[in-house]
Amino acid sequence: MSGERPIGVIGVGWVGLVTATCFADMGHEVIAMDIDAAKIRSLSRREVPIHEPGIEKLLERNADRLTFTTEMEAVLESARLLFCCVDTPPTYSGDADLSRVQAVVSQLADDGDHALVMKSTVPSGTGRAIRRDAPGLSYVSCPEFLKEGTAVEDFLHPDRVVIGADAGAEWAADQIEAIYRPLGGEIVRTDVASAEMIKLAANAFLATKISFINEIANVCEEVGADVTEVARGMGLDKRIGPSFLRAGVGYGGSCFPKDVSALKQLAGNTGYHFQLLTAVIEVNELQKRRVIGKLEKHLGSLAGKTIALLGLAFKPDTDDMREASSLVLAARLHGEGATVRGYDPVAERPASELLPSVELSGSAEEALEGADAAVLVTEWPEFAELDWEALRERMGNALVVDGRNFLDAQRLRDAGFAYEGIGLANGESDEAREARESAEAGSR
Ligand code: UGA
Repeated sequence: MSGERPIGVIGVGWVGLVTATCFADMGHEVIAMDIDAAKIRSLSRREVPIHEPGIEKLLERNADRLTFTTEMEAVLESARLLFCCVDTPPTYSGDADLSRVQAVVSQLADDGDHALVMKSTVPSGTGRAIRRDAPGLSYVSCPEFLKEGTAVEDFLHPDRVVIGADAGAEWAADQIEAIYRPLGGEIVRTDVASAEMIKLAANAFLATKISFINEIANVCEEVGADVTEVARGMGLDKRIGPSFLRAGVGYGGSCFPKDVSALKQLAGNTGYHFQLLTAVIEVNELQKRRVIGKLEKHLGSLAGKTIALLGLAFKPDTDDMREASSLVLAARLHGEGATVRGYDPVAERPASELLPSVELSGSAEEALEGADAAVLVTEWPEFAELDWEALRERMGNALVVDGRNFLDAQRLRDAGFAYEGIGLANGESDEAREARESAEAGSR
């Protein structure tokens, strides 16, 4: 806003770009910096290097308030608040790699004029370590809770904004609170270590909810219950809540797997064994593999069979394939000797790099042509719109394994498909089951 100093954003990956464009949309001047010159060039031309709904419009609409640069000097000259949005990928040990954060800190003058506002997800204790090395630097932890695919919406309508600052950084915390207040949402003012922990604990809890409902789904399959009914009945209890109770082929993405593991390691480094998270991780790993058993139940050996994976990104509305369930599934299917086809509406480029042995198709129809089974991995809305009745004739075998309980099971069954979801009562009539079992017995 006029008269104020611009907001600095360091690192224009997914979090940084959403942060920069949303601040600009709120009327602030923003100077955003990244060491990747090609990315800065494309952003300066208003080309968006990521797939995130709404970003292009924000960039276009606020072009005159956004400056992109590769020069840290330029940011330090104009901005006082420096939102650090560099990535913190996992290391082989499962700890977070903080080298990019450290590279940023090493370039900051310890002059008391600037505040480093940490948006990157870092282990609890990072703020304390940074302040030990740069005591004059004001440090604020302001974790982000954005979801890929709805990040702009999440940013502009936050449930809460967490601002963690210790003595000496209150001036920065006050300014950050003033920036966020117009968005509504509860402002949580706390200390740095607690703010860092809120972020990790929130992601770990959501991941725990998912692994919990996935285990319930697995038990539902054994006892003939329907997990979607169970989740509905559980979620109406306000103490439990309805969200993140969708059973499926496990969670993926750049956040949950990394943050759950980082919290587990963080606890381990202090000598505490976080047993619950060990189970959350293991359940998630096994969940991705259960699809193989469902396919084998109908097809017998998968050797020589053609399996089409519908959706390769870790969730819809993103081209992000980091830790996507499709990666594990494709590897397992190859291991069983199957030919694997894949289709995703937007993740074709990362898929061609990460899944070199998967035959990528230009459409769902092409992937399903002659296939022995369709496995829905990512619930892109267009998969519900497919003409499944017509596809039934074009597939080699009429089997759908719905890894997200997303498709209309009754419609598919009416069209002649065998349909398998996750944690659903089988839906097979007694006659159909008897017929299948006697066919299976005959083929042995
Ligand atoms: C997650 C958190 O939801 C955000 O609050 C957080 O800011 C972000 O991580 C982060 O730390 O940066 P995101 O990874 O974008 O966001 O994706 P989610 O929508 O949370 O989904 C994560 C995974 O869980 C996906 O693979 C999704 O398919 C799966 N999921 C989600 C389920 O299997 N079941 C559910 O009920 C919900």
